[in-house]
Amino acid sequence: MARAVPSPLIAMSGEVLIPQLGFGTYKVTTSDAYPSVRAALDAGYRHIDTAQMYGNEAAVGKAIADSGLARDEVFITSKLNNPYHEPAAAREAFARTLDDLQVEVVDLFLIHWPMAKTTDYVATWRTMTEFQADGRARAVGVSNFQPDHLRTIIDATGNRPALNQIEIHPYLAQRDLVDFHSELGIVTASWSPLGRGALLNDPVITQIATQIGRTPAQVIIRWHLQRGLVVIPKSVHPDRIAANADVFDFELNAEEIARIDALDRGQRFGSHPDKVELA
Ligand SMILES: NC(=O)c1ccc[n+]([C@@H]2O[C@H](COP(=O)([O-])OP(=O)(O)OC[C@H]3O[C@@H](n4cnc5c(N)ncnc54)[C@H](OP(=O)(O)O)[C@@H]3O)[C@@H](O)[C@H]2O)c1
Repeated sequence: MARAVPSPLIAMSGEVLIPQLGFGTYKVTTSDAYPSVRAALDAGYRHIDTAQMYGNEAAVGKAIADSGLARDEVFITSKLNNPYHEPAAAREAFARTLDDLQVEVVDLFLIHWPMAKTTDYVATWRTMTEFQADGRARAVGVSNFQPDHLRTIIDATGNRPALNQIEIHPYLAQRDLVDFHSELGIVTASWSPLGRGALLNDPVITQIATQIGRTPAQVIIRWHLQRGLVVIPKSVHPDRIAANADVFDFELNAEEIARIDALDRGQRFGSHPDKVELA
């Protein structure tokens, strides 16, 4: 039986527990997805992040099914793709996700992008809450939502997303949005936590890594963990996948954290939520 990473669990909406460390699968091709997810589960990850948009849910689902792990041992997140926000389309898309993943229930289902200018995202959010009510999503949340989007859906429905998954890394610390989530009781997850790999060569990060005898990726992943964020690094290399999960036997000290905090410069590697819209 594979070794389980002793990842801390974070309570979402007080009920569903999400492992703080997960494995990302964006830009993981269908042929890479199966071996990568198997490698992640072998390395002890118990939380896999996928999405309809990534086109790899079937391979991810097969890897989880073949792992020998019980369904309730692996936390699975997926996301509603942008063209399927209209309620009937969302229902069909969610059913497809469950089929592709070979599961009856996902642990977390997110609206991938708000699409606030082109879609009625309140209606989409209402549809998401149906999936939780009928038991096919243990928790529902959002991704790439800004404060006004969050306020709008909560005011309109009285239902608060369990989690908002947003771009966060040392060059884009997102302190205001994370504080806003905390006030509302919404868990924050960091996407592109390594800045898509670009931060691994930052001199402050590499210097700290050398000083403490860790890899740059491990240093950055600790920074997320010590901020209380869910973190979902991606790699297709088994050695990196394992090393990225080997982060629970050390801590960054306050001075190291402060040096990484000082790197914040509002730099995105992905799209701004206001720029992602259907034509
Ligand atoms: N909700 C959203 O809108 C959204 C958007 C983007 C991403 N995400 C999620 O967040 C996850 C992570 O973000 P991401 O994939 O964009 O980027 P990331 O995890 O920040 O970085 C991945 C990059 O870093 C490299 N890397 C990883 N570990 C490494 C190591 N130990 N040493 C050297 N290089 C390493 C990877 O290369 P190799 O693979 O070659 O090792 C890859 O190029 C995604 O996979 C996805 O699940 C969500």
